[in-house]
Amino acid sequence: MQRLRIDLIAAARPNFMKVAPLFHALHEQSWCRLRLVHTGQHYDENMSEAFFRDLKLPPPDLHLGVGSGSHAKQTANVMLAYEEACAADRPDLVVVVGDVNSTVACALVSTKLHIPVAHLEAGLRSGDRRMPEEINRLVTDTLADILWTPSPDADEHLAAEGVPPEKITRVGNIMIDSYELMRERIDAAGERRRLGLENRAYAVVTLHRPSNVDAAAPLTALVNQLIRMAVRLPLVFPVHPRTRKNLEAFGLWSKLANAPNLQVIEPLGYVDFMSLVCGAHLTITDSGGIQEETTYLGIPCLTLRTTTERPITITEGTNRLVTAAELLPALDEILAGRWPRGRKPQLWDGHTAARVAADIRRRLLGVPPRVAEATAVPVAANRRTLGNA
Ligand code: UD1
Repeated sequence: MQRLRIDLIAAARPNFMKVAPLFHALHEQSWCRLRLVHTGQHYDENMSEAFFRDLKLPPPDLHLGVGSGSHAKQTANVMLAYEEACAADRPDLVVVVGDVNSTVACALVSTKLHIPVAHLEAGLRSGDRRMPEEINRLVTDTLADILWTPSPDADEHLAAEGVPPEKITRVGNIMIDSYELMRERIDAAGERRRLGLENRAYAVVTLHRPSNVDAAAPLTALVNQLIRMAVRLPLVFPVHPRTRKNLEAFGLWSKLANAPNLQVIEPLGYVDFMSLVCGAHLTITDSGGIQEETTYLGIPCLTLRTTTERPITITEGTNRLVTAAELLPALDEILAGRWPRGRKPQLWDGHTAARVAADIRRRLLGVPPRVAEATAVPVAANRRTLGNA
């Protein structure tokens, strides 16, 4: 039997934990041959290699080395390099994940070469077209031949945009697979102890969205609020390179770094970061993934954004959208124990990669899923779920 040649595209920090479970589910299968492609969008040791090590990913088969640049430049450089890679060794299926510039770039290249594209984490929408990721999501989902969704709201968006139902399979949340795969190592990690933090007596902060960190006014307001919050609860803040650059440019770095009860540290690898999150009383973030991880873990999450493409973390989970001014009152609520505990959304169970693998075999090789794999929700059932809601 001819093996199905699958390209798995990894690019930036939030991609690696989405790609890893799929890599582990597919790489020893006799029916496919994987090529792990790293576009090089993230390249710092602690934004890239640390994640490959933690998530037990081998070095990529192909590294496109595109690096940073404006949106157009970064997207175009990925397209140029990936088109060459496809010409040299044409895959039968390209799997892209998430919503970064490399996701849309590789989807564009594959579609124009008539290579089927599958998008993992399809259908998420913030409704805010000023977010670069929203544009990437819209374009990628328009192009994709197979759309794997994490939640019913995603199915609903795709249906409203006219995506034919037979292209969509709800498979659940792949991020949870990574957490479950690494859970023992996360539980054993000593990051909390190293930082002198007591269990449940601190908050984790992450910030990197352009809307929060690219201009002086919002970033200054956030820094002031964080310093005030740290008086009530110690904060630990692994700082993204983009944020660090801007804190330094706006003269805010030393103010933040010298604030009492507030530790600014380098970005952490996956295991150390998740061990910090697991022990935290709450998280303060503008990340997409952390909204989901905290919902799964039942940890309160304050999201510094006006919209989220992951509304299920609010309706079913522990997440709330807040402004800088709302941080302190929200902290009071959480410390007083007045915060919803939430529940784990359906199919956020650590078995998403297995459902994706089964869906690939069904769609491209005509192999019916085994009973254990057949829990992916086809779109007709999605519609019933939505209708009942
Ligand atoms: C990108 C993604 C965003 C994701 C985030 C996670 C897009 C549009 N954005 O945003 O969706 O949530 O990754 O981190 O794809 N830099 C380094 N070292 C690195 C990477 C970046 O120093 O390894 C610096 C560069 O100066 C770069 C800046 O950080 O210009 C921003 O990096 P970039 O990849 O453009 O966007 P992110 O903000 O990381």
